[in-house]
Amino acid sequence: MDSDKTKTANTSAEETQKAGTKKSASGAAKNSSTNSSSSASSGTSGSSTSSTSMMQSSQTSGPKDYSQEATKDGPLYKFFLDGLKDMYFAEKHILEALPKMKAAATTEELQDAFEDHHLVTQKQVSRLEKVFKTIEEKPEGKKCEAIIGILKEGESIIQETEEGTMTRDAALIIAAQKVEHYEIASYGGLVALAETLGLERAADLLQTTLEEEEETDLDLTDIAESFINFRAAGEDEDDDSEDYEYDDDDDDPGLVL
Ligand SMILES: [Fe+2]
Ligand SMILES: [Fe+2]
Repeated sequence: MDSDKTKTANTSAEETQKAGTKKSASGAAKNSSTNSSSSASSGTSGSSTSSTSMMQSSQTSGPKDYSQEATKDGPLYKFFLDGLKDMYFAEKHILEALPKMKAAATTEELQDAFEDHHLVTQKQVSRLEKVFKTIEEKPEGKKCEAIIGILKEGESIIQETEEGTMTRDAALIIAAQKVEHYEIASYGGLVALAETLGLERAADLLQTTLEEEEETDLDLTDIAESFINFRAAGEDEDDDSEDYEYDDDDDDPGLVL
């Protein structure tokens, strides 16, 4: 079970790296821009169509000459901007959820991990604001049903698992990794789109966040596999927190919101 999870996490990280790696940004976004440029250049006539300015730009400059100015009215730029708004909304919701996850966690290791990621997430919100600024857009969120659903599932895990158990932590880690994987997929795509659109500064900022999410995902895997999953496997229905000696510090700092 554990090795499967590691494999999944590693595979995901590798795939995302491929999507997000700046030099080889070859994600769907890049492909779609290539497609739209080739369809533009192989149009049936040179007469004006209902094409966007992005397509007009393609006809004259080719795919490698995209610039912020040339694409700002195009659908790909709008999709990119929507993606940023989606993540701005998502990060703010994650900021609200992390303290609850920390409060629900059994082990100090997981509590610390959630607290650390809360700090990282605060920086990511600021970094997203910087991204908006670099492309001269106002930072605003757009409702993201995906993150609402993923976080809701995390809440139900807290309801469904016994307080003070390792099973609670094993389940919380998986819930948190679902959040991270959503973020990894989203930021990986945004990096690729920013590169395609020639928004280098935005791509750099988003790449930094992408790497933080990947690191968090791997850290969570490490915590799960170091002892939590193993001990959770030994739990039965009547176990509670007093049965565990996961921490040699008897003065558990408790949960601080
Ligand atoms: Fe994040
Ligand atoms: Fe995250």
